[in-house]
Amino acid sequence: MQQIKTWEEYKSAYLLSTAEPEKFWAAVADNFEWQKKWDSVLQWNFTEPSVKWFEGAVSNITQNCLDRHTETSPDAISIIWEPNNPNEASQKISYRELLHSVNQFCNALSKIGVRKGDRVCIYLPMIPEAAIAMLACARMGAVHSVVFAGFSSASVADRINDSGCSFIITADAFYRGEKKVELKKIVDEALTQAPTIKHCVVFNHRSEQITMQPQRDVWWHEITKNCSNNFLPEPMNAEDPLFILYTSGSTGKPKGLLHTTAGYMVYTAFTFLNVFNYQNGEVFFCTADVGWVTGHSYLLYGALLNGATTVMFEGIPTYPDHGRFWDIVDKHQVNILYTAPTAIRSLETYGIKIFENKKLTSLRVLGSVGEPINEEAWHWYHTHVGKNKCDIVDTWWQTETGGILISPIATVTPLKPAFATLPLPGVQPVLVDESGNEIQGNNVAGNLCIKFPWPGMARTVYGNHERFRQTYFSTYSNLYFTGDGCRRDDDGYYRITGRVDDVINVSGHRIGTGEVENAIDEHPLVIESAVVGYPHDVKGQALYAFVICTEKISDVEKLVAEVREVVAQKIGSFAKPDKIQVVPGLPKTRSGKIMRRILRKVAERDTSNLGDTTTLLDPAVVDAILAGSK
Ligand code: WT7
Repeated sequence: MQQIKTWEEYKSAYLLSTAEPEKFWAAVADNFEWQKKWDSVLQWNFTEPSVKWFEGAVSNITQNCLDRHTETSPDAISIIWEPNNPNEASQKISYRELLHSVNQFCNALSKIGVRKGDRVCIYLPMIPEAAIAMLACARMGAVHSVVFAGFSSASVADRINDSGCSFIITADAFYRGEKKVELKKIVDEALTQAPTIKHCVVFNHRSEQITMQPQRDVWWHEITKNCSNNFLPEPMNAEDPLFILYTSGSTGKPKGLLHTTAGYMVYTAFTFLNVFNYQNGEVFFCTADVGWVTGHSYLLYGALLNGATTVMFEGIPTYPDHGRFWDIVDKHQVNILYTAPTAIRSLETYGIKIFENKKLTSLRVLGSVGEPINEEAWHWYHTHVGKNKCDIVDTWWQTETGGILISPIATVTPLKPAFATLPLPGVQPVLVDESGNEIQGNNVAGNLCIKFPWPGMARTVYGNHERFRQTYFSTYSNLYFTGDGCRRDDDGYYRITGRVDDVINVSGHRIGTGEVENAIDEHPLVIESAVVGYPHDVKGQALYAFVICTEKISDVEKLVAEVREVVAQKIGSFAKPDKIQVVPGLPKTRSGKIMRRILRKVAERDTSNLGDTTTLLDPAVVDAILAGSK
């Protein structure tokens, strides 16, 4: 695949990609192995919406991830696995070995009844088996639905039921830092509420004592025993589903975004190669979990499609000490590091002593993803990690977009701290005002929309196309609405300012306020709650919950602890609010709508101007809230 190497090349690629998008993407797609090429490059409308890329083409993403590189360089390393505990051995898996493991697992899954089109839930820690399971599903045409191993049993059950998974793949347990997570136990609990599951495959990772339910549960090593390491990749149509991945929105339960085969493959490979300026033989270290889209698109698919070596780290940046990331970089001679601002800010608080005896000389490109990176964190990353010689690519995208849309191209785009800079080829961003008019020119701000399809975009919300239309294509006609606010400066550079809806980004985890409210309301003493976000030095944003209770609470501390626990149980620990305030009422309009604007101001401690409160049903409520604010 051709790589953009100069500013001139970027400009001409961008021009071509907007003037003749089909020609542009067909040329990119020509670099893959196809069992049959496409009849048409693109058919689309944003009203239905319906987007089809490379219709008529037949391929399998794993053929392009694995077989192709196994033919040319079988001994090249595909995955380097770094365990949670640095005293345990890391693993290096060649492309040939990975292909064989994937094939074996395909045969094992076939044996227990997995068929093309089946949905398979993957609930695993960051171990090579997570990659093997995803790739095996993709190879046999089963649709993987990876659930981050920090979600609670209730969340696992919800996701299984929403997509009708008939299989789940998990492990006995794992350690995240010093904390043991008993995955199989969580799955057992989830499966009491998930009747569609026929089999649960368990990988023995830590030899923990667990109970296996006869008939339902099978061991990974047992079903894989004696399986052949040949398995022909299933011919997949361009728009056949590849995976479902859940993400939170401003309302209702999480949405299962559906990504399809050919467009996703072309887009993740293209963006990996260009954004990170990846060079043959380089080692790429993405610190995201495979449970999030970054783990899907760059740790796994984008990297393997390019024949890269991808580092998979089981642990956390602070274990056994705050130098762990740098130790991994030195140990595996990482060239490209891709992490989140929240990790950067949390390490920043420990001072530069965390760099003592670390070399970091192998690093060439740094990436940032998941939330806006503030200038201070950007400079710290640039100076102390990149030693002032590595480009930082601040990559803006979403679960829905499948791949990076706005970002510098490393070594090519002139950088500006805290700016995602410019759209990648094929991406046509627009800023719109409240009434949906496009805002022209520079030095302007508005809601960020995209006006033309790109190959990696999600095609639907699984099982609910109307919700897909409603959420992304109905706010503004003929535009994909991202939910983000954005500025375009005098140079035409884009700076993402954050969500304009009720989605809160806590440590790069996307959390819907409605979901947290629903969880809190499950507490028997809670009548109603409202959750808003407020700025947090390390997490970016944190959650502040206002709750109304059925009776006067004598032990507020106890209630607060219980409310946090309910959230951990219903969603996961990462969604626990930092602040919880018991209030006598919520600021509501006469029509019963909660005025979140006021609650946000209270949470932000910016109460000098609360705006107009006269339209409230009971303006006195605001004083009571202010008096008790945290
Ligand atoms: C939301 C998407 C992208 C993969 C991980 C998160 C925010 C993401 C940036 C960035 C500013 C960013 C946006 C977006 N976001 N990257 N570089 N600068 N904001 O995927 O969980 O679907 O969240 O994350 O608000 O809408 P996600």
